[in-house]
Amino acid sequence: MARKVQHSLLTKAKTNKKDEFYTQLIDIESELKHYKNHFKDKVVYCNCDDPRVSNFFNYFSANFKNLGLKKLITACYKKQEIDLFKNKKTENGFFIEYEGEKEEKNIANTDEIDIIQFKGDGDFRSTESIELLKKSDIVVTNPPFSLFREYVAQLIKYDKQFLIIGNINAITYKEIFKLIKENKAWLGINLGRGISGFIVPEHYELYGTEARIDSAGNRIVSPNNCLWLTNLDTSKRHEDIILSKTYYGNESEYPKYDNYDGINVNKTKDIPMDYKGFMGVPITFLHKFNPEQFEIIKFRKGNDEKDLSINGKCPYFRILIKNKRLQIGNTKQRNLPC
Ligand SMILES: C[S@@+](CC[C@H](N)C(=O)[O-])C[C@H]1O[C@@H](n2cnc3c(N)ncnc32)[C@H](O)[C@@H]1O
Repeated sequence: MARKVQHSLLTKAKTNKKDEFYTQLIDIESELKHYKNHFKDKVVYCNCDDPRVSNFFNYFSANFKNLGLKKLITACYKKQEIDLFKNKKTENGFFIEYEGEKEEKNIANTDEIDIIQFKGDGDFRSTESIELLKKSDIVVTNPPFSLFREYVAQLIKYDKQFLIIGNINAITYKEIFKLIKENKAWLGINLGRGISGFIVPEHYELYGTEARIDSAGNRIVSPNNCLWLTNLDTSKRHEDIILSKTYYGNESEYPKYDNYDGINVNKTKDIPMDYKGFMGVPITFLHKFNPEQFEIIKFRKGNDEKDLSINGKCPYFRILIKNKRLQIGNTKQRNLPC
């Protein structure tokens, strides 16, 4: 019995551990600068954020006027302080509603903003938090990774605009891929090494190429495996991928799949400009995807619903796409599929 309890505690610790990654201001600034035109007169909700420590709160309160925000709501899941008398963490969450400074000052002081207690723990799925979500226009945060699918599903259900951080693997979740395929969500600007790292609590091991303790004493890990997922438009999303290769004349570089009528392309930059049929490209393609240039057809599986394969070997996750803006030029097209 004791072993069982011990085991469940460890599992819980492991799960919690994954979720305690705090976003750095520098990474928020470097992404948010691409979306400034979206925020005028909007209510922003950061629903996984303790305003006392959240850099999302810091960013939006400092830029409240510049962005022309109407309101900033920030909600904290459970209170993180220890209650000295009960010697356990208190279970209620709380939130704040910030409407800008009356006087001329740039930085909001959380001590001067009224804290409103949730009756419950402030879980983003709770009725209380959903009521705040309904009042909001845009949700911006880094939500708990372990609840990412549910988190995104809720944003879609309530038809919210969003800009959130997730793990790159999230692209491979069928629910998330479906949104990307249907142009209901897309990748933001920064990805992988473009997100410099996350602040972690004392008891976390530091890892990653840029792991460090910064000048303020923050412990930073750099997993290099995160992305921004959004449904806010950016100019980058309308830029064509510059294609320089051709299929015709280089057919041997683009083998056909065993179980799908399409060719395999190993690198996004090698997508041929003249191929009319289906092409399987790596998932990193999504970072450059312009829906006016390409159409996403299917993820990973061939006609037999097994992973796409070439002579029995499966390249790592492929996305099947089709070129909407063929550049045929002088190249010949023979036996074109479909
Ligand atoms: C990855 S951390 C990011 C924190 C903050 N958003 C940031 O970017 O710095 C995820 C946060 O979600 C909180 N959290 C975990 N489960 C939650 C839930 N069910 N509802 C709301 N917040 C939750 C955790 O306490 C943690 O602070």
